[in-house]
Amino acid sequence: MSEDLFKKIIAHAKEYGFVFQSSEIYDGLSAVYDYGQNGAELKKNIREYWWKSMVQMNENIVGIDAAIFMHPTTWKASGHVDAFNDPLIDNKDSKKRYRADVLIEDYMEKIQEKIYKEVAKAAKRFGDSFDEKMYVDTNPRVVGYKEKIAEVRHRYVEALEKSDLAEIKQIIIDLEIACPMSGSRNWTDVRQFNLMFATEMGAMAEGASTIYLRPETAQGIFVNFLNVMKTGRMKIPFGIAQVGKAFRNEIVARQFIFRMREFEQMEMQFFVRPGEELKWFEHWKELRMKWHQAMGIPAEKYRFHKHDKLAHYANAAFDIEFEFPFGFKELEGIHSRTDFDLKQHEKHSGKKLQYFDPELNENYVPYVVETSIGLDRTFLAVLSSAYAEEKLDDGSERTVLRIPDFLAPFKVAIFPLTKKDGLPGKAMEIFNALRFDHMCVYEEKDNIGKRYRRQDAIGTPFCITVDHQTLEDNTVTIRYRDTMEQERIPVDKVPAIVAEKVSFSKVLAE
Ligand code: GAP
Repeated sequence: MSEDLFKKIIAHAKEYGFVFQSSEIYDGLSAVYDYGQNGAELKKNIREYWWKSMVQMNENIVGIDAAIFMHPTTWKASGHVDAFNDPLIDNKDSKKRYRADVLIEDYMEKIQEKIYKEVAKAAKRFGDSFDEKMYVDTNPRVVGYKEKIAEVRHRYVEALEKSDLAEIKQIIIDLEIACPMSGSRNWTDVRQFNLMFATEMGAMAEGASTIYLRPETAQGIFVNFLNVMKTGRMKIPFGIAQVGKAFRNEIVARQFIFRMREFEQMEMQFFVRPGEELKWFEHWKELRMKWHQAMGIPAEKYRFHKHDKLAHYANAAFDIEFEFPFGFKELEGIHSRTDFDLKQHEKHSGKKLQYFDPELNENYVPYVVETSIGLDRTFLAVLSSAYAEEKLDDGSERTVLRIPDFLAPFKVAIFPLTKKDGLPGKAMEIFNALRFDHMCVYEEKDNIGKRYRRQDAIGTPFCITVDHQTLEDNTVTIRYRDTMEQERIPVDKVPAIVAEKVSFSKVLAE
């Protein structure tokens, strides 16, 4: 994967109505994006896949929709007012601002890439007899790289844990990390920057109180824990799920919809008996990986990443990383958050947030295992793995989005071969029957080849062509996006073929 490919994907997303820069006519708003007519459909389908697999398929998980604005004390209790900071550093020559931790992470990532390259080269050289583990453990160059990463990581994690900003700067200097824009090593000191957006509620400046746009949806779940537990008569273990917007004033806003200032999260907090959280953590870690892989995206595009530095409230944390065009990066976090959040809200609200466990005959504050995934990042994962440029047998080329069928924005396109002889009427009849169940496109402009290409470019899995033979024997040509194969089938078989391929059920069953 390359930067070039990533640029092509971004251009394709714009050209075909998936993602636009926000307020583009005013030169755009940095790190804020709008979803177009096809993007909104794809995003909705991903959201639905998550919701169905969490809420519909689990009798002990319910979904809520909490407000974006919350009482300001929420964010004091959660720790976001005091500690939701990124360490930032400026380059004095380029005047560019960076996250200091990201500069160091990128440095380690580059060394890691060198290891991958060495391993790939050796695997090629040794063929079937290659023993990767032995090679990684004994090859002097690889061992040297690993030691360097471990040394940097040790220093860096210690500095982060102590919030030692001077030491973080010193690491950047010692590693001779240069500004990626200018190559300069002329850095300012590192300082903390709170990522929450603040605004005021109330008409008057005096008397108005500062409130925040939520930086995560999770707190809307914690503050509703009692409401949902009581009204839903929930028994532990149980979960509360939510999808919604979150806002962060990201310092380094780059990589398209990977890091946005306004984005959407899909989060689930699973409340368990204290002491059982690590068992449930393992359960959700495995299940969430299955959810990703059930989409049909190759398994090697995903990997787990164990957190080096645990947040003060967590006792286990893993990310699921995805191989985006710019490398493996976080897509989802699975965190064992202990009883930190509920206890904090108890303390700040003065309300008991406890569960009476009839089996143990005791009250306790439940422990929480959280799964937290970015909808926009999942969108980017699906889009970037779907994008393909192909050379065809006849020498022509096509760009196709091999979006998993059940997620595709439009499922079927219906074309009359020509605009005459009653073909549009017949095609419309099929279109009108299918649109009750699926997002369908009707198109009669341009030749069939061009119409196929347009549907390939937005990822429509099936095209149905109505021709003169249709009027005689009620058959149509169905053309499959991925193989480009075509076959003649009776009109009345179309709904079953399409329904079978685009159904969520098969994927959910996996
Ligand atoms: N409640 C836990 C939480 O918010 P997080 O790791 O900060 O954890 C969870 O965020 C997920 O939200 C990430 O794995 C990522 O997919 C998504 N996410 C976080 N910040 C984002 C941003 N600025 N733009 C897009 N997605 C983001």
